[in-house]
Amino acid sequence: MANMTVYPDNRSFVDGAADFIAGLAVASVAARGCFTIALSGGSTPRPVYARLAAVDHADRIDWRQVHLFFSDERCVPPDDAASNYRMAREALLDHVPLPPDNVHRMRGEEDPALAALAYEQDLQRSFRTSAVPAFDLICLGMGDDGHTASLFPGTAALRERERWVVAQYVAVARAWRVTLTAPLINAARHVLFLVEGAGKSETLWHVLEGSYQPDVLPSQLIQPVSGQVHWFVDAAAAARIQST
Ligand code: 6PG
Repeated sequence: MANMTVYPDNRSFVDGAADFIAGLAVASVAARGCFTIALSGGSTPRPVYARLAAVDHADRIDWRQVHLFFSDERCVPPDDAASNYRMAREALLDHVPLPPDNVHRMRGEEDPALAALAYEQDLQRSFRTSAVPAFDLICLGMGDDGHTASLFPGTAALRERERWVVAQYVAVARAWRVTLTAPLINAARHVLFLVEGAGKSETLWHVLEGSYQPDVLPSQLIQPVSGQVHWFVDAAAAARIQST
C-alpha cells in the first residue's frame, strides 16, 4: 500500500500539506543547514503555498537557508498567467523573506532546450556536485491522465536516464515544457504528491494499485531510490482506492 494520507476536505488537505513542508524545512535546516525544495505547478498547490506563507508556518522556517526550485515550467514569460513561477510568486514568494538569489526559476521565456541546460548548470552550481543532486523535498501533482511534472504519457522525457532536466513539446498541452526528469526526482529524500478531486480518483487507483505501465501512467515512474514518497490526497481522489 502506498504511503498515502487521506484528508476529509480541502482545508485539512491544505493545512496538512503546509505543515508537512514547514516541518521538513525545519528538520532539514537543523540536519544539513539548508532546505532544498522544488515546487510543482498547476492549480492544486496554490492554496498550500499560500498557507505556507501564513505566519504560523512562515515564522517556523529560516528562509535564508531555503533554496527553492521548480519541478517543471511552461515555456512562457514569468509574468504570464500560465507561468508556474508566477503562481508561486503570487502565493508564496512575495510574502516570505526568501533571498532572491535563493529562488531558482526555470527560464520559460527562453529557448526551451537552452533553458533546460541552464537549469542543469544551476543545479550543479547550487548543489556543488556533478552527481545527481538529492533534494530534501520535491513537490509534484498528478494530471487526470497520470502525468506528473511535465512527464506526459508517451513522451520522450519518460525514457530519459541521464539528464536531470529536459525540454519537450507536449502535444496534449500544445506547448513546450521544461521538466525535471525521473532520475533527478527519484534521487530526492522526500517526494510529495498533492492530489485532489473526484476527477483523479480512477487514475490514482491505476497509478497506485494497477499494473505497472509508466509510459501510460508516468506518475508510476516516481519511486525514490532511497527516499520516501508521500501521497497527500483528499477523500474525493481516494474514493476508488478506498472502495476496493
Ligand atoms: C504543471 C504541473 C503539472 C500539474 C498537474 C496537476 O505545470 O501543470 O506541474 O504536473 O501538477 O497537471 O495539475 P492540477 O493541480 O492543476 O490538477
